[in-house]
Amino acid sequence: MSVAESRLSSDEPADLEDIEIDLLLEAVYRRYGFDFRNYARASLRRRLSRRRDLEGIATISGLLERLLHDPDCMERLLLDLSINVTAMFRDPGFYLAFRERVVPVLRTYPFLRIWNAGCSTGEETYSLAVLLAEEGLLDRTRIYATDINQSVLARARDGVFPLEKMREYTENYLAAGGTRAFSEYYVAAYDGVRFDPALVANVVFAQHNLVADRSFNEFQVVICRNVLIYFDKTLQDRVHRLFHDSLSRFGILVLGQKESVSFTPHEHDYQALDDAHRIYRKVARPTPHGGR
Ligand SMILES: C[S@@+](CC[C@H](N)C(=O)[O-])C[C@H]1O[C@@H](n2cnc3c(N)ncnc32)[C@H](O)[C@@H]1O
Repeated sequence: MSVAESRLSSDEPADLEDIEIDLLLEAVYRRYGFDFRNYARASLRRRLSRRRDLEGIATISGLLERLLHDPDCMERLLLDLSINVTAMFRDPGFYLAFRERVVPVLRTYPFLRIWNAGCSTGEETYSLAVLLAEEGLLDRTRIYATDINQSVLARARDGVFPLEKMREYTENYLAAGGTRAFSEYYVAAYDGVRFDPALVANVVFAQHNLVADRSFNEFQVVICRNVLIYFDKTLQDRVHRLFHDSLSRFGILVLGQKESVSFTPHEHDYQALDDAHRIYRKVARPTPHGGR
């Protein structure tokens, strides 16, 4: 019996929309190289249905057809799927913990490379730069800020953020242990506020796909917050391997509030520097013979 026949005769018919989603994700991967095949299914289904409706198309197969022939539609879908929500000094307690637990470690290095993976529109990168500047570390640091999505990276490079957000960001900054007037870091621009370009003089903003691309350097710190939540377990494990391979000896890994190294193949390769704020330090895993 063929697969189709066995499906047709089965008591439990395969969910047609599920098949359409599989085909669409495969097509997106083969046509554009973006691999969403292992993204968490429920949220993927919601976002694809929303894009289908916004495009005025009746079915997911119809959306597949449009995506294959219309790169602009792919850009729109990419924005839907890559969920770019971010904020300056998001989870201020994390930045406070970073100042207290990580900065003293970083002071011991003459030169630092930090990878800010999934940086979205740059708010996280600018927050880091402000913190490092205040701690006297910015000049000796190069930050690689990467994201899958070119449009958000273009905004990050611009460094212009909405004026109406500044009250919230100032509160976050102060709660994060900020020591100056936050307004010292930006000037009013006609379309918002422009952050001091000196903050990102040592930042390289570049496209990098955590799912498909390799490591490109060795880092003392990898910060990837609120990205892994969108991946299923297979993909999370793969990205954890990438981070582990990319970290220098005793390097530091930072994840988002809802993310962890627990229950990953690398959980024994880290010790928690601050468990609550998901700050981990790479350790050498003991060998079965007691060596290192
Ligand atoms: C919710 S934002 C998090 C932004 C920031 N890290 C924060 O916590 O505020 C998630 C970001 O991950 C990026 N992203 C999603 N899949 C990715 C992938 N495969 N490779 C690199 N970045 C990805 C999205 O484009 C988005 O900008």
